[in-house]
Amino acid sequence: MTTQKKPWGGRFQEPTDKDVEAFTASIHFDRRLYRQDIEGSIAHARMLASQKIITKKEEKAILSGLKMIGKDIEAGRFVFNPDDEDIHMAIEKSLISRIGKAGGKLHTGRSRNDQVSLDVRLYLRDEIRRILELLSIFKKSLTDLAKKEIKTIMPGYTHLQKAQPVLLSHHLLAYWEMIDRDEARLLDCQKRVNILPLGAAALAGTNLPIDRKQVADLLNFPAISENSMDTVSDRDFIAEFIFAACLIMMHLSRFCEDLILWSSSEFGFVEISDSFTTGSSIMPQKKNPDVAELVRGKTGRVYGHLVSLLTVLKGLPMTYNRDLQEDKEPLFDTVDTVKGCVKTLASMIRHLQFNRLRMREEAAKGFSTATDLAEYLVMKGVPFRESHGIVGRLVAYSIRSGKALHDLTLSEYRKFYQGFDEDIFACLKVENAVNAKNSLGGTAEKNVRKRLAEIEGRSYE
Ligand code: ARG
Repeated sequence: MTTQKKPWGGRFQEPTDKDVEAFTASIHFDRRLYRQDIEGSIAHARMLASQKIITKKEEKAILSGLKMIGKDIEAGRFVFNPDDEDIHMAIEKSLISRIGKAGGKLHTGRSRNDQVSLDVRLYLRDEIRRILELLSIFKKSLTDLAKKEIKTIMPGYTHLQKAQPVLLSHHLLAYWEMIDRDEARLLDCQKRVNILPLGAAALAGTNLPIDRKQVADLLNFPAISENSMDTVSDRDFIAEFIFAACLIMMHLSRFCEDLILWSSSEFGFVEISDSFTTGSSIMPQKKNPDVAELVRGKTGRVYGHLVSLLTVLKGLPMTYNRDLQEDKEPLFDTVDTVKGCVKTLASMIRHLQFNRLRMREEAAKGFSTATDLAEYLVMKGVPFRESHGIVGRLVAYSIRSGKALHDLTLSEYRKFYQGFDEDIFACLKVENAVNAKNSLGGTAEKNVRKRLAEIEGRSYE
């Protein structure tokens, strides 16, 4: 009878409806957790044996059965069946069919509720490590590029209007700082991922003399969860991870937006190499920044995963509810998306060609050194609000006469303020304007070099 096939079939008279089977199954996506499921079961079985809940012989049979299953899955020989519901039951069922009675002892003192949390934690802690590796590669691409473009001057913008000249290297290192914070967030989140849930059983703990400390040691968990009810219903660690991923994506997306703008002919600041762009099926001349656009687009999808998980969680009564099965697809897709984006972008930025001349030219336009002029007056003792007004009137005059600030003569300057001297022309030069920004964290080349040295752990003179 079909009902007897289910591990929980004892109290059921009728078989599961086929559509319901398909509807409730998660095996098509949670099979990705097979390695963690086996690893967790091995640790659990070893503990059961050392606590004398199962015999040494049974332990041996379970361990070799689980290892065989792992090998079969890896070799693509394992048949995943939707009526096995999820990866946990599929592996357990296969174990029983391979080793018989002893296999039926594996699920002692545990439940799928603590088991699934364990599997996800084991999976996520590895993925966080992998994402951290990719982020550090990305940061290295940024610092390499910043070193290459250390002196390149470009317009800095606010409101997408030219504001003040800055160094491209400073602009690139701004992203380095963002990613550095993202790494710190992931490391912090990792502390809450790295807690052993196994032993909470269904929700209340177990009557059996299990040793959670031993399982924690076997699986390298530095901490053990304190409350069994919290343990089986907690998905904070996933929400937190997806939020950290959202911020990573947001930072990547902003960077991509810069690249998309810069690669337009209107800006003309950068050329992305052919190998990282695509063409148009109709317009022969086109070369599009699709990689950057896709990273920007995929950011929306990761944000969506955060909202979907938070929404799944918000109304759940204690403790485990099947709704929680909906945590996995958002998590898996977040992991895949973030890894794909960081990896591709890290290599794309090694294929950028900046148009230094054009950036330098544009940096000088738009009265971008007006603030330098205002600060020049401040150094001569003029209160800043007054100097702001003087320079504002000078800019208005220049616009009316169709000139740039450096085209005006000293006598024209003196009509606005008597104390202007010949040295204003030096202060209007973009190179000088950039290098005068030597306040801590400012764009002066000296600062950027110093930060690069700090980042690379070198001493800086
Ligand atoms: N597939 C389930 C999940 O992902 C495993 C736990 C099932 N527990 C249960 N009581 N039905 O959450």
